[in-house]
Amino acid sequence: MNEVTAGILDTLCRSVSFISGEELCREFSITRSAVWKHVGLLRDEGYLIEAVTGRGYRMAGLSGKPVRAEVGMFLETGSLGRNFIFRHEAVSTNQIAKALAQEGAPEGTVVAADAQTGGRGRMGRSWSSPPGVNLYFSFILRPELPSVRIPQLTLLVAAAIHRALVRHVPGARTKVKWPNDILLNDRKVCGVLCEMQSEPDLTHFVIVGVGINVNQSGFSPELQHMATSLALETGGAVCRPELLAGVLNHFEPLYREWLSKDDLSFIVPYLEEHSYLNAREVAVDQHRQTIRGKVAGIAPGGELILLGADGRPLFVASGEAHIRKEQP
Ligand code: BTN
Repeated sequence: MNEVTAGILDTLCRSVSFISGEELCREFSITRSAVWKHVGLLRDEGYLIEAVTGRGYRMAGLSGKPVRAEVGMFLETGSLGRNFIFRHEAVSTNQIAKALAQEGAPEGTVVAADAQTGGRGRMGRSWSSPPGVNLYFSFILRPELPSVRIPQLTLLVAAAIHRALVRHVPGARTKVKWPNDILLNDRKVCGVLCEMQSEPDLTHFVIVGVGINVNQSGFSPELQHMATSLALETGGAVCRPELLAGVLNHFEPLYREWLSKDDLSFIVPYLEEHSYLNAREVAVDQHRQTIRGKVAGIAPGGELILLGADGRPLFVASGEAHIRKEQP
């Protein structure tokens, strides 16, 4: 958003009554048609702006969409989310954030969309992203760390989301399922997809993509036995801008701490306390093999610790974990 568009937005947000086109022309030294153009850009970004002949413009209320001004009302971060881009529809917010990162966009830039037409999940899966109900957003990080530490970010983000959800939906059984899912009453409500561009000793950037099922009222037959939404579990609608800001507010201090530490030790007790897999018999599917064992915890490096049949600990760095129905 350019400076004039942002200025007009600020003026409209601060005013309780109509502001005439003439006043905006004067304040920003632009023509009436330029005012109209900037108002159009703001509407494209999701702001509800009313225009009445003879009176001017005013904010018509809150859209409830994850737009900059509405997320900003709840944001308590230093830099995360201060550069904020909203799209009514995107193929994938991860894709947009990646392109922006390649063009040099700063750390902390957030891209949010009201709908995705090609939302991506882990393991090449798609992420169902219908309009108007959920959160789909991605942010750019530029940690000055070797790439081996980057997979730890997924768990760090999961911890931040867990903290935000516990605040928004107290009382629900909210669990972190290693390494990237959040479950609500045993069904998936959120997934995290981290993608990075790096060399072995140098991380250029990481894109953290988050999808949260917020107010979706139903799922397709293929998804309904494993997916849920906050609204379905709590019976009430959740304010999407507030929840998005909550995730960023919780993540920023964790991220700062992680940058100053060697590993995830400082957050492991939290992750273990809220782990869905604790003490369960699991099978972890990797590309070429499946590893089985009983979950004994999470290592400082973020690996899932399993006790194998011989009782020896196994450190699993990646994969998709399933609770085993059959006993070993
Ligand atoms: C998963 O559990 O498989 C991860 C899902 C991640 C989905 C989010 S939605 C916002 C961002 N854009 C994408 O295309 N994917 C992530």
